[in-house]
Amino acid sequence: HGALGEIWDDEMSSTMLGKRLKKVVQNYQAMNKYGVKFSGSEGATRRRKLSGPELLCQLKDMVHITTLTPDMEPFAGFPWASQLPPQPLSSDLGPFKTCAVVSSAGSLRNSGLGKEIDSHDAVVRFNAAPTAGFEKDVGSKTTVRLINSQVMASEDHHFLSSSLYSIGTLVAWDPAPYSSDLNEWYNKTDYPIFKQYQRYRRLHPQQPFYILHPSVEWQLWKRIQDNMAEPIQKNPPSSGLLGTVLMMSLCDVVHVYEFLPSRRKTELCHYYQRFSDAACTLGAYHPLLYEKNLVKRMNQGSDRDIYTHGRVTLPGFSTYNC
Ligand code: C5P
Repeated sequence: HGALGEIWDDEMSSTMLGKRLKKVVQNYQAMNKYGVKFSGSEGATRRRKLSGPELLCQLKDMVHITTLTPDMEPFAGFPWASQLPPQPLSSDLGPFKTCAVVSSAGSLRNSGLGKEIDSHDAVVRFNAAPTAGFEKDVGSKTTVRLINSQVMASEDHHFLSSSLYSIGTLVAWDPAPYSSDLNEWYNKTDYPIFKQYQRYRRLHPQQPFYILHPSVEWQLWKRIQDNMAEPIQKNPPSSGLLGTVLMMSLCDVVHVYEFLPSRRKTELCHYYQRFSDAACTLGAYHPLLYEKNLVKRMNQGSDRDIYTHGRVTLPGFSTYNC
């Protein structure tokens, strides 16, 4: 890329990782905790590489953002089903013109992107990512917070009482068995998402709070694997990609910040913590490397936008013609 410097190469492969991380990724590639039945290498190798527009149309056609509603089994039979929103997320939120997806990457530090991020109609943030004290770099608006079940359950996040989670609409998810069968998932969640959901709803009954249907994570996983030349980790995609596709279903235009690292690329894991590990940006458990390849291929913005702003531009599904 010459004068521009290094930006994300959409052919990143686990073979390009350092020795330690390569091992971790290879271990996850061999493991199959969620019972994934899909032979990736068949699909991808016999076919040509799809263009960005073709990938966007695949996502639009094949990934459907659904959330749990009280009529769905087995929840319909439980007394707490009435705590679930009666309507799916899409009928209560949006549509928005412009949306910002704020990854939690360390490279947001000293980015000065806060004003730009806040200028969007809706902003999505992830897990425990704060705005207080970081407004200059990440802004202060939060429309949606996508949280995983680990954050909901772990003692040190104080999910039930921390004011961090009390702003905007909450959307929670948990890695489910590949079948996406709700009964199977209910009895086999990674973390106690339903118990924590019920507790939170009792404490904060006015805040909109949705649970993502597990079919979303695996529909998206299939799009990643189907378009990669090597077997990816058989684990669900990261919150960052889930949130990006969620916003593509609600917005006309989506800007994603520091998912593809800018010139500020760093091993610092999160902008809000001291901890450093290259795995945060390159993935270990999540197929994050491949998620980034896919996003790079779909990007409608310039390479310079990535380099200077860590910014990717993606179209919303409703405005994109296939
Ligand atoms: O760590 P956490 O999952 O809360 O971060 C939110 C999302 O931001 C991740 O799921 C990932 O997609 C993205 N991220 C990243 N690089 C980092 C840290 C986070 O791409 N260094």
